[in-house]
Amino acid sequence: MREPTPSPTPTVVMCPGGPMLLRGKHVVEDADGNLHETRRPVSAVCRCGKSALQPWCDGTHKVLPERDRP
Ligand code: FES
Repeated sequence: MREPTPSPTPTVVMCPGGPMLLRGKHVVEDADGNLHETRRPVSAVCRCGKSALQPWCDGTHKVLPERDRP
């Protein structure tokens, strides 16, 4: 099976109460100015601030009270 061809321009999907999904090749700059290159066709960027794998979502948002979700 072939891997999907990366999109030349990233697309963004905001998940209600969860991460921001990025499709396509891109670089994410974290709050400290560190650059993180994506390695997957789809990457999930944490929006709740609670992930242990910043800047990536690790699913922690699912156990947060609704008021603390993005
Ligand atoms: S959005 Fe998923 S852990 Fe923060």
